[in-house]
Amino acid sequence: MHKYFAKTLFLGKKVEYLTQCHSTNQELAGRLNTSKISEGHLILTDYQTAGKGQRGNAWISESGKNLLFSLALVPNFLEIKKGFMLNVIVGVALQKALEHFVAGHNVEIKWPNDIYIDNKKVGGVLVETSSDGGFLENAIVGIGLNVNQNHFAISTATSLSSVVRCSLDLDEVLEQVLLDIESQYLKLKAENIKSIMYDYHQNLRWRGEVHEFESRGETFSGEIIGINEFGKLMVKHTDELHSYDVKDIIFIH
Ligand code: BTN
Repeated sequence: MHKYFAKTLFLGKKVEYLTQCHSTNQELAGRLNTSKISEGHLILTDYQTAGKGQRGNAWISESGKNLLFSLALVPNFLEIKKGFMLNVIVGVALQKALEHFVAGHNVEIKWPNDIYIDNKKVGGVLVETSSDGGFLENAIVGIGLNVNQNHFAISTATSLSSVVRCSLDLDEVLEQVLLDIESQYLKLKAENIKSIMYDYHQNLRWRGEVHEFESRGETFSGEIIGINEFGKLMVKHTDELHSYDVKDIIFIH
């Protein structure tokens, strides 16, 4: 099981399934250092003992219920300063993939690339890259997607099964996610940036709405306008446009 995904062109043609590991991102980083890994190599596990999230957070997931995987990409056509585009395409791909399974529900991308359904977080992405001479070399795209878990420690988390009230086949969800990542990645390679950005902004959570944020200890109301050419979040407040890095802004409500 979990050996091969037939519908994709190059993602998930080689799948390593581990019953348990510290972190699939860490496993893949180890393989990239020691062996020849081809683009699309996938490491998938049922349980992580040290799952990594963004901003140094942990990623906790019940054993065997959800998708926990890391994918190797070789985006050597992408300048380092455009590295954020990997976050953008994975966000767009997940949004599109999940819409297949939860028709009628609101699937959104929370900047930079958390995925929300009906205002609750269903998945997260951790992209780790290495570079060489101004261009990216390898990228590890780590994805945690809550599929069949129905109880969470926090009320702001959800899963596909909690939304549609039935369990889903993990391989089927993974295959759809891989197909959509592959399609967005090929668009990026073909420099079809306008269309990718359009899809990202169309599904960007809180865009065009006024919400509360915090930055450098100050709370303010602002309106998300979108992301700029460097992947920073643009927020309008006090009649001016401000741009933020991930570490510089907290979404309050
Ligand atoms: C986030 O904080 O929202 C990002 C979570 C990313 C979690 C995934 S689970 C598979 C892969 N391995 C890890 O250690 N992290 C990513």
